Amino acid sequence: MTTNTKRVGRVYMETFGCQMNVLDSQLVQGQLRALGYEFVTDWRSADVVLYNTCSVRERAEQKVYSRVGELGIHKRTRPDVVLGVLGCMAEREGVGVLKRYPQIDLLCGPGELDKVPMLIDNAVKTRISNGSSKKARDTDGRAALQGNTHRRSSTLQAAEDQLELLDLSRSFSPEDHSGSAYVRITRGCNKFCTYCVVPRTRGAEIHRPPDHIVDECKRLVESGVVEITLLGQTVNHYHYDHGASVVVGGVRQPQVGATVGAAGPRVTGSRVTTFADLLARIHEEVQGLLRLRFVTSFPRDFGDDILKTIADHPRICRYLHLPVQSGSDRMLQLMNRGYTVGQYEELLGRARSYLPDVQIASDLICGFPTEAEEDHQATCDLLRRCGFKNCFVFKYSPRPGTAAFDRMTDDVPDETKRRRNNELLAIQSGVSAQVHQGYVGQTVRVFVESISHKAAKARDAGNGVSVYLGWERPVTQLTGRTDGDLIVLFDGDESLIGSIVDVSVERSAPLTLFGRLAQQPAGV
Ligand code: SAH
Ligand code: SF4
Ligand code: F3S
Repeated sequence: MTTNTKRVGRVYMETFGCQMNVLDSQLVQGQLRALGYEFVTDWRSADVVLYNTCSVRERAEQKVYSRVGELGIHKRTRPDVVLGVLGCMAEREGVGVLKRYPQIDLLCGPGELDKVPMLIDNAVKTRISNGSSKKARDTDGRAALQGNTHRRSSTLQAAEDQLELLDLSRSFSPEDHSGSAYVRITRGCNKFCTYCVVPRTRGAEIHRPPDHIVDECKRLVESGVVEITLLGQTVNHYHYDHGASVVVGGVRQPQVGATVGAAGPRVTGSRVTTFADLLARIHEEVQGLLRLRFVTSFPRDFGDDILKTIADHPRICRYLHLPVQSGSDRMLQLMNRGYTVGQYEELLGRARSYLPDVQIASDLICGFPTEAEEDHQATCDLLRRCGFKNCFVFKYSPRPGTAAFDRMTDDVPDETKRRRNNELLAIQSGVSAQVHQGYVGQTVRVFVESISHKAAKARDAGNGVSVYLGWERPVTQLTGRTDGDLIVLFDGDESLIGSIVDVSVERSAPLTLFGRLAQQPAGV
């Protein structure tokens, strides 16, 4: 509850990158709203423009630079506007970016987001940085906060973990969600895949205390949330050792994870909460929760205990996002993924034997250094065998600071990457079409997310979306997801958004099911 309710400024915020960033933006927005800031959808009318950025591929960064360029022009006539670059790019680029782009007023890495209100305040009121912060630096009075790049010891981390307070301070207002919410369980990553910036931008793997996670889930459900997605770069490695837990200022602290994943030996004499334990606890203790999901799973150390827990708990979704990255063992080794194609497929088999109706999504990188035609063919074959419901395919993008950037030449020509990318997408499209076709004629349970893109576009164009179909009320096209994360489009009333309904599937496309509400209002 805030005492300061006067409007202190209009903020426009745009988010790039993964779900972790979406959650971070929500938390920052919650903090700013509590301080009286108002959020606007048109950046031209804003006093503060914030970009929460992603560094995972070069293209993700280019998008932000083009926005920053646009803001530079805008600031010629509105020099009072504060421009902040938050998130992974701020962490990766560091203070040098302030020198190159004078229009940026503040930079804030993902490990320091609790300080965004303070940074904005400084920029607005005094335009000088706060020298008391441990990593604040002055660049013409502009502030840059980073902090995740150094990998701190667990004790130091425990004493310093202000970021936990950011998650703990989230808003539970029903206006801030539409029935669905993200809850972080693990921050950072310890895997060091050779192509990936995340361990550098997000820092060491840190596991949040299970009590905090369960409480957050309970409070979200009390505020009307019916679907929760647990977030972590490697969620299945969640591991909290209660014997080693530390309390600072009355707050139980998050813990630094093991370097090789969390499936290691349990510490004798202390109680450990594993990922399977956490899932079971949330399922049991948060009864009003209708759907519990999690992303992203790492294909190593995915134990039977997790699969059995999902099988035994009907409200845990039958969906795994298990990025494989390549179908070639040689590539997987160069990527430092720590598993072979055989081990990956063994896990798929195990998952499907415990959960016959599970849907699996994946990610692939094509054109990683030295990838030969035979490696690519091995990936094509893997795609044909795996039956993924969908698969994101990325062209390898060399990222400064990663092992692959430092030690390997980006030797696959862009044209070859593009061709391999298209071939993989074409194969996956056929596989996805088959997976989706299998649902035609069935009734599926759908969490209704929003009106469809098509309907939203029609609305924005002023064409009107509501069509009268003989019901008591006008209906529009809605979009939602099944328990296995398949996208479903159907006509219905907007009031269904945020609830779970049954839909009879009438036809399918490679990535979509089309249907009609199974239980329609009386009189239809
Ligand atoms: N933690 C997850 C993935 C996080 S990044 C995992 O380990 O699976 C999301 C996806 O971006 C990755 O799965 C990978 O396919 C892709 N990616 C990451 N770095 C990349 C790079 N340098 N070039 C191209 N794709 C990349
Ligand atoms: Fe990146 Fe690998 Fe960590 Fe995923 S597991 S975030 S790909 S380093
Ligand atoms: Fe991008 Fe950072 Fe997420 S690099 S993918 S926003 S963790």
